[in-house]
Amino acid sequence: MIVHPDVEAYLQKMTPESHPVLQEMESLAARRNFPIVGPLVGRLLYLLIEFGHVHTVLECGSGFGYSAIWMALALPENGSILCIEYEEKNLELARQFAEKAEVAHKIKFVQGDALEVVKSLQETYDFILNDVNKPQYPMILPDLIRLLRVGGMLVTDNVLWKGQVAQANPDEKTRAIQTYNQALFQEPGLWTSIVPLRDGVALSVKLKRE
Ligand SMILES: C[S@@+](CC[C@H](N)C(=O)[O-])C[C@H]1O[C@@H](n2cnc3c(N)ncnc32)[C@H](O)[C@@H]1O
Repeated sequence: MIVHPDVEAYLQKMTPESHPVLQEMESLAARRNFPIVGPLVGRLLYLLIEFGHVHTVLECGSGFGYSAIWMALALPENGSILCIEYEEKNLELARQFAEKAEVAHKIKFVQGDALEVVKSLQETYDFILNDVNKPQYPMILPDLIRLLRVGGMLVTDNVLWKGQVAQANPDEKTRAIQTYNQALFQEPGLWTSIVPLRDGVALSVKLKRE
């Protein structure tokens, strides 16, 4: 945990309960020990989408749809999310939860490897959430920048990796995240800030200049 446990507990206690379907998903994630962004980051995604008047979202690494449903709840009725996920069994669940939360009409699910699927995409998006396997972060970045509209936001989860990014002898996953974070900050076409919330969230806006 990055944030002091007392502060983390305070934030979690103060956070209002999620939508009932999201609560159900939070229980499922806890039972299965499945990694989801959780309510603190879910609320941040909701806030950014609401504030940015976002209409189109691309999500790479959707799991069973928890973060996608947070974003779908924030989107206007004509908004849309394209979710890319490896595992068909995760997508089955995601479709069921999206129906239950009455946001299925805003979400399109694609089964496949996000690294490959993004190569076939041409349209740009207002908002992109990157939550793929951590060693793939540096590889997927050029396509995500290409697919982000100018003024749009790229959000990346787990960029502080339980604090391991600050350690002297990083493992392979940690090294990939370090490389990715450095690229986010050095890329002249992006303006990036890292919020040390939960496991660290990078917010990057695409600038007009390249
Ligand atoms: C950490 S989970 C996050 C799920 C979701 N973002 C959430 O918070 O509810 C990451 C998910 O991404 C999927 N994934 C990882 N790398 C992927 C890739 N390259 N292409 C498609 N799916 C990927 C995994 O199967 C897993 O379900």
